[in-house]
Amino acid sequence: MDPSRPALLILALVISLFVSAPVALVAFPRQSTGAILITGTSTGIGRSAAIGLCARGFTVVATLRRPSAHDVQAFKHEGVSRGCLASNLHIISADVTNATERTQAMDALKALNMRVAAVINNAGVSMDLPFEFVGEDAFRNVMEVNFIAPMLLIREAIPWIKRDRGRVVTVGSIAGRLAAPGQAMYAASKHALEGAHDALRRELLEFGVSVSMVDPGCVKSGIFKKSILAGDPSAQLTRDKYAMYARHFKHRDWVLGLCERFAAEPDESSTVSIVHAVTDEYPKARYWPGTYTVLSGRMLVWLNWALPERILDLATAQQWPGVFTG
Ligand SMILES: NC(=O)c1ccc[n+]([C@@H]2O[C@H](COP(=O)([O-])OP(=O)(O)OC[C@H]3O[C@@H](n4cnc5c(N)ncnc54)[C@H](OP(=O)(O)O)[C@@H]3O)[C@@H](O)[C@H]2O)c1
Repeated sequence: MDPSRPALLILALVISLFVSAPVALVAFPRQSTGAILITGTSTGIGRSAAIGLCARGFTVVATLRRPSAHDVQAFKHEGVSRGCLASNLHIISADVTNATERTQAMDALKALNMRVAAVINNAGVSMDLPFEFVGEDAFRNVMEVNFIAPMLLIREAIPWIKRDRGRVVTVGSIAGRLAAPGQAMYAASKHALEGAHDALRRELLEFGVSVSMVDPGCVKSGIFKKSILAGDPSAQLTRDKYAMYARHFKHRDWVLGLCERFAAEPDESSTVSIVHAVTDEYPKARYWPGTYTVLSGRMLVWLNWALPERILDLATAQQWPGVFTG
């Protein structure tokens, strides 16, 4: 650029201020020790993050649903083999939808008598089914696990997080910004998290508490098999009902196949984001780890914002390849 052109120079200055100032304005104490509670650590994103944080010196309370003695042993063994001190990994049982068990998880965190460095909401369920076939119980369960339980856990943790200037990190999804056909429930639960976390982030700023969302694209985990193969509600549909949405199911299976095939390893994607959100002086409000079928997560979100909604409707309804993954 020719520096003699002051307009361009000023423009460059304004752009760089616009890009860097928001980051520099909001700094938090760097964290390298303390206690962390993380939910849903049987597999995938939660398991990798729990071990990754433990291996970095944090004391981690990791929750599993009804773990057997063997599950606990296997988890400890995996943790130790990946650099985590066995004494720094506390594995407890908690179904996040159960208020008593949530409180027990918080009690386990408090009983450590350490600084509370973070509470990480990771437990989640996915479901992809045309809305007219969604049962009320299934709908309530997705909202309960993905939205209500994390918010209630945060509410319970806030006094300790404020006391210690710790952090809140919640695993959402790209579906929290983009809503694909068949994902009314899942997208609703993840959109709700996004709005609630925007409010919380602003609310807790004056207390020196950082609040981040980690919104993965495709990350290797158990979620695809759990939601689509094992308990796939579409498998229970009659032939007629299935035929009505055959195009949708075909596209869904294709996208999920791609997602599974090209999914990022959690250690190299979501865990990097979660560790950054917990430890860094400049945690981001949102992270987009993982892979997407064609476009990056950031690009998808930008397109969602920039394109007229009716164009997006056509794109998703016509099922243009790569327009959406969740
Ligand atoms: N993997 C991806 O590509 C992807 C993409 C977008 C968003 N996400 C989000 O990432 C988070 C982690 O999912 P993941 O992909 O790692 O899948 P995952 O391997 O299935 O892990 C989900 C975890 O949540 C637990 N869970 C489910 N319901 C629970 C409940 N009621 N109480 C306690 N724990 C419960 C599961 O326990 P069980 O083993 O007992 O079921 C499991 O440990 C979820 O919030 C998900 O929505 C993942």
